[in-house]
Amino acid sequence: MISPKLLSIVVIACFVVQLQAVRFTKRASDSDALRWVNPLIGSNSGGNVFAGASLPYGMAKAVADVNGENTGGFATDGSQVIGFSATHDSGTGGNPSLGNFPIFPQLCPGDDLDNCKFLIGARATHYKNDSVKAEPGYFGIALENGIVAEMTVSEHAALFRFNFPSNGTGNSSSLSPLIMVDLTDLWASRQNASISIEAAEGSGTGRIRGNGTFLPSFGAGSYVLHFCLDVTGGKVKDSGMWVNNRAGTEPQELFVTRGFNLFYLEAGGFIRFHGPVADTINARMGISYISTDQACQNAEAEIPGPDFDFDGMVTSAKEAWRKKLAPISIETGGVDDNLQTSFWSAIYRTMLSPQDYTGENPDWESSEPYFDSFYCIWDMWRVQLPFLTIMDPQTQSRIVRSLLDIYKHRGWLPDCSMSTCKGWTQGGSDADNVLVDAYVKNLTGIDWELAYEAIVNDAENEPLQWSIEGRGGLMSWKRLSYIPYLDYDYLGFGTNSRSISRTLEYSYNDFCLSTLAKGLGKDTDTKYLARAGNWQNIFKADQKSLINGTDTGFAGFFQPKYLNGTWGYQDPIACSPLADFCSLTSNPSETFESSAWEYQFFVPHDVRKVISLLGGPESFLRRLEFFHTSGLADIGNEPVFLTVYMPHYAGRPGLSAKRAHSYIPSRFNSSTNGLPGNDDSGAMASFTLFACLGLFPNPGQNVYFIIPPFFESVSITNQITNRTATIRNVNFDKDYKNIYIQKVMLNGQPYEKNWIGHEFFTQGWTLELTLGDTESAWGTRDEDLPPSSSTGDMAMF
Ligand SMILES: *[C@@H]1O[C@H](CO)[C@@H](O)[C@H](O)[C@H]1NC(C)=O
Ligand SMILES: *[C@@H]1O[C@H](CO)[C@@H](O)[C@H](O)[C@H]1NC(C)=O
Ligand SMILES: *[C@@H]1O[C@H](CO)[C@@H](O)[C@H](O)[C@H]1NC(C)=O
Ligand SMILES: *[C@@H]1O[C@H](CO)[C@@H](O)[C@H](O)[C@H]1NC(C)=O
Ligand SMILES: *[C@@H]1O[C@H](CO)[C@@H](O)[C@H](O)[C@H]1NC(C)=O
Ligand SMILES: *[C@@H]1O[C@H](CO)[C@@H](O)[C@H](O)[C@H]1NC(C)=O
Ligand SMILES: *[C@@H]1O[C@H](CO)[C@@H](O)[C@H](O)[C@H]1NC(C)=O
Ligand SMILES: *[C@@H]1O[C@H](CO)[C@@H](O)[C@H](O)[C@H]1NC(C)=O
Ligand SMILES: *[C@@H]1O[C@H](CO)[C@@H](O)[C@H](O)[C@H]1NC(C)=O
Ligand SMILES: *[C@@H]1O[C@H](CO)[C@@H](O)[C@H](O)[C@H]1NC(C)=O
Repeated sequence: MISPKLLSIVVIACFVVQLQAVRFTKRASDSDALRWVNPLIGSNSGGNVFAGASLPYGMAKAVADVNGENTGGFATDGSQVIGFSATHDSGTGGNPSLGNFPIFPQLCPGDDLDNCKFLIGARATHYKNDSVKAEPGYFGIALENGIVAEMTVSEHAALFRFNFPSNGTGNSSSLSPLIMVDLTDLWASRQNASISIEAAEGSGTGRIRGNGTFLPSFGAGSYVLHFCLDVTGGKVKDSGMWVNNRAGTEPQELFVTRGFNLFYLEAGGFIRFHGPVADTINARMGISYISTDQACQNAEAEIPGPDFDFDGMVTSAKEAWRKKLAPISIETGGVDDNLQTSFWSAIYRTMLSPQDYTGENPDWESSEPYFDSFYCIWDMWRVQLPFLTIMDPQTQSRIVRSLLDIYKHRGWLPDCSMSTCKGWTQGGSDADNVLVDAYVKNLTGIDWELAYEAIVNDAENEPLQWSIEGRGGLMSWKRLSYIPYLDYDYLGFGTNSRSISRTLEYSYNDFCLSTLAKGLGKDTDTKYLARAGNWQNIFKADQKSLINGTDTGFAGFFQPKYLNGTWGYQDPIACSPLADFCSLTSNPSETFESSAWEYQFFVPHDVRKVISLLGGPESFLRRLEFFHTSGLADIGNEPVFLTVYMPHYAGRPGLSAKRAHSYIPSRFNSSTNGLPGNDDSGAMASFTLFACLGLFPNPGQNVYFIIPPFFESVSITNQITNRTATIRNVNFDKDYKNIYIQKVMLNGQPYEKNWIGHEFFTQGWTLELTLGDTESAWGTRDEDLPPSSSTGDMAMF
């Protein structure tokens, strides 16, 4: 029997039809998960989240762009607003992404065009810190000059609403409000651009159309984006172009390119209205990767005029988000409100990217879905896409189909992509893992034969440019069974580093391939399973690790190995937070973005073999403890995630729970600086979510590790089967002293394994965990542990 529990938040689940679901999903119509969503979490200190208005997976993403931490457009870092734009990526690192064709409102002193501030440096204006209002589907901000900007979006268009101060000092109240558009993007990567204006004097609307060629923020080639901007709200006074810091009402068309030494010309167009403005000025910005006409059609179809329904759009955007949050409900058990804020906001952030560009693919025609902003799959495959598999399986199927459609038309699965361009590969061919994760979780509507073909292509054929697709070093991979340090590879070209991490990732890619091969009845499964063991060839059993000359006492690390079989050397702490960061370009090393210490734990398919190589469970756990407490672990980057749950493989599931609590909320919380690193689309978000859920995936395998949820209970209704799965704590205490599982009941029967398969979600099972304040014998026996390939228990659950 379920006794009535304190219920702080319940989402109305529209799809609940099962009796069991009705029993466990409590409803309260006055409760709304949306009010717990704070889009500003991670909006400073490197979280780089997109804090503005977006629909779920929406292409249009409107926000105020700042000149501070502007990778995702806006930051709560007190910097200055330089524009308002309609395209962004969320959580990415490195160069700022998109932010094309920013618009900017202003009143020019004396109504003199020469007094307008066109250049980015000149127009930058501080915002009032306490004016920022960010909600799903809405972003509002007041500039210190009194102009208030609000914005909302449809799928491919944004609507901005500007309020000019009508009570300004001196004669500013009679000034003519001006809206300018700048032919730039956040990274100032524009190569060339065109613009034209139609704005008859006295008419109520002015239209500016244009396009530009830009560079992807982490990829190859260039992309063309088109826009169509309609400005309304008074009588047009005049319009024209600006170039550098001068403007004129002639001409009404302009083409700009890069000049002397690729000099960056700042230029764009403007429209002015007769002042004083009685009401707001609206700016509707349609965007398209196909054509300027399509940008206009997107705007007209999605945001009909002439009287734009701003409030109605905000309401529909919120409704779209409410539906996306609906499958999940929680009983909080009285935990701190901040955890709820973290939780619901994290779910929201998992659906900002990838972005649904269906109908906006400039490169080929297809009836399949087209998603972009896989930025990058290296970040997304581990937790974000697995989270969508649980929360939004229909969309995850469409995402997988779009990966396959990219393979079909480009000949290669993507590893990273943004703004329709190929992004740089970071490790293995990680789309392989995504496809196989979808396979072991029975996602529907996917052509598995095509998936097999695509992964075999990654495994067997080396592309000329393996920095943007496929894998490098395949000759050595097949002949020597590892990626050599300073490989000799004349088949293809890429950044010839990361031999350790690539060996580990390719091993896991091949493991995933063998799983699919076996499932489809191909005869290649044993071949790829053998290749999945290649990681063992770079394990150097006697390698020690010193920190500042002091031996850490742990021996055995992955090390670089030359073509001739001789060991190279990389300090095991190199690339850890105790040393320098290693990326593709800065300090490229044999491990990518983390150390040999951290990569020592990256063998997701054979953790038990790693445990035995490192001296057995006790010694392994000592090493894991040292790793997490010495500063070596980089909790702000994805390779670390699995290490939190590895005690499950050493028969100590309680230690995984304890470790998860050591990071949440201290490193993942609801403050604006509450992320330990770039959100990386929704990767940091999903790490938090799976911990709160009490089930953490080992993607590519039908495995979730069980720990107690951070709430009293969590229920999720699968959107395909309509069944509701519930994981519930007994003896839950909100201060988290009872975080150790004593006993588990699955659908009323005792359950001893410390892991469970995806059937839990699709079949709508119920797990009941009885908690205590010390570890117990539950889940500790050999037969209770998650499968590892070398223990021969890899059969699907
Ligand atoms: C606004 O916030 C930023 C960042 O917290 C801070 O540096 C700045 O001083 C604040 N400005 C005002 C006027 O309070
Ligand atoms: C007020 O108007 C006068 C005359 O047009 C102009 O010279 C002056 O710059 C204006 N002041 C402001 C603050 O706009
Ligand atoms: C103008 O209006 C704003 C908001 O109503 C108010 O805060 C401000 O003090 C007013 N300024 C003047 C100069 O009256
Ligand atoms: C714009 O730049 C792109 C990329 O450099 C180039 O391919 C294209 O030809 C240019 N367009 C014009 C009209 O010069
Ligand atoms: C951009 O717009 C100009 C002017 O309308 C047009 O000539 C050009 O073909 C467009 N460029 C692209 C890539 O569509
Ligand atoms: C190593 O020694 C240096 C200099 O004493 C010190 O700054 C640094 O923090 C030490 N590093 C570690 C990991 O102990
Ligand atoms: C193997 O190659 C490395 C790198 O060229 C070299 O330093 C080492 O001496 C070679 N080992 C043997 C046994 O030839
Ligand atoms: C929230 O997380 C950030 C980022 O990890 C951390 O710096 C901060 O100390 C945390 N705040 C709290 C109150 O735990
Ligand atoms: C799940 O519910 C939806 C909406 O009520 C319905 O269309 C669909 O057929 C149901 N699916 C199953 C498997 O019951
Ligand atoms: C997938 O389908 C197979 C065959 O129907 C079934 O045995 C398995 O339990 C399903 N797996 C999941 C995760 O639903």
